[in-house]
Amino acid sequence: MLVISEQDIIKAVEPIELVSAIEKAYIIQDKASTNIPNRMHIDNDENTLLVMPGFIDSVFGTKLVSLFPKNTQENKPVLNGVMVLNDARTGEALAMINGNKLTAMRTGAVGATAVKYLAPFGAQTLGIIGAGVQAYHQALIVIEQRPFRKLIICDKNLSKAEVVKDDLETRLENIEIIATDDSNQLVIDSDVIVTATSSSKPVFDLDMEKIENKVFIGIGSYKPDMQELPLSIYKKTEKVYVDTLHAKEECGDIKIPLNKGLIKTENIIPFSTVLTSGELLEESSIKIFKSAGMSLFDLTVAELIYNNAKEKGLGQEVSI
Ligand SMILES: NC(=O)c1ccc[n+]([C@@H]2O[C@H](COP(=O)([O-])OP(=O)(O)OC[C@H]3O[C@@H](n4cnc5c(N)ncnc54)[C@H](O)[C@@H]3O)[C@@H](O)[C@H]2O)c1
Repeated sequence: MLVISEQDIIKAVEPIELVSAIEKAYIIQDKASTNIPNRMHIDNDENTLLVMPGFIDSVFGTKLVSLFPKNTQENKPVLNGVMVLNDARTGEALAMINGNKLTAMRTGAVGATAVKYLAPFGAQTLGIIGAGVQAYHQALIVIEQRPFRKLIICDKNLSKAEVVKDDLETRLENIEIIATDDSNQLVIDSDVIVTATSSSKPVFDLDMEKIENKVFIGIGSYKPDMQELPLSIYKKTEKVYVDTLHAKEECGDIKIPLNKGLIKTENIIPFSTVLTSGELLEESSIKIFKSAGMSLFDLTVAELIYNNAKEKGLGQEVSI
C-alpha cells in the first residue's frame, strides 16, 4: 500500500489536473457503474464523523472525516481525514492518502469548476468569505479560472484574513490581495464570491440591488440548520446549482429556502447537467452554486493523486 502524505499530494498534482478530475466526476455521476451512497453523518455532541464510501469503474474507496469545531481553540484544524483507495478489480487497498489535503484540494477544485462554467469571462475580482483551510485552497485553484486582478479575503477575525493574505502573497503573482473583516463591502466589490465559513447564519446582508450579476459559490456550512447565503438572494435567481441533490436534505442553504417556498425543487439543478448539456448560461444574472461535497470527488481526485504519485516516485510503500 502506498502511503501518500500532504507533501506528496502537493508535489503530485497541478490545479488544472484537479479541475479535470472534478469534471470527470460530474460526467460519470449518473453512470450505472458509479455507486455513491449518501454519506453517513454521525453527530456526537458538537463533533461530527462523516463516512464517505463510493465506487467507480476503476477504483473504490472510503474517506473518513472528523469535524471538531473546538479544535480552533487549540489552533488545530477543525477537519481531519484519511482516505483508503482500493482497486475495483481485486478489492486490494492501493493507497492511504492524507484526507485533509485531499479534501482541501478537491474542494478547491469543486469551487474552481463551478467558476469555470458559471463566471463571466471578464470577472476581475474574486472575494472569499472565511479565511480557513478551505479558503486558502479555493483561492489557489479558483484564481486560475479567470484573469482575476484582485483577491479580497474576509474573515470575522481580521487577523485570520491577514494570515491567509500573507500566505497567498508568497504563492500568487500579479494579483492584488486585500484582507478585510467587512463581508458586505467584499460582496459589493467582487464579481465572484466564494463562501467558505463555518457560520450558521448568513455571512452578509445587503440590498439585493447591490448584488446584480454576481456569482456565488457556497462551500461551507454543511448542516441543515447552517446558512451562509441570505434568504433574500433567492428572490433574484430562479435556478440554484448543486454538486449533489443530497444538498436538498443536508445543506441549510438549499433546505431552508426550499422549505420556505423561495425556490422550487425543480429549479435545484445538478451541476453535472451544465457539463453534459453544453447549455450556454446567460451572463447577466445572479448565479448560485452550492457544494455539499461527495465521495465521488474524492475518488476521482484520489485516483489522480495515486497515479501521479506512482509515476513520480512519491509516497511510501508499506506492507500491512
Ligand atoms: N463543500 C465541501 O465539500 C466542503 C469540504 C470541506 C469543508 N467544507 C466546509 O467548509 C467550511 C470551512 O472549512 P475550513 O476547513 O476552512 O474551516 P476553518 O475553521 O479552517 O475556517 C472557517 C473560517 O470561517 C470563519 N468564519 C466563521 N463565520 C464567519 C462569518 N460569519 N464571516 C466571516 N468569516 C467567518 C472562521 O473565523 C474561520 O476562519 C466548513 O463549514 C466545512 O465544513 C465543505
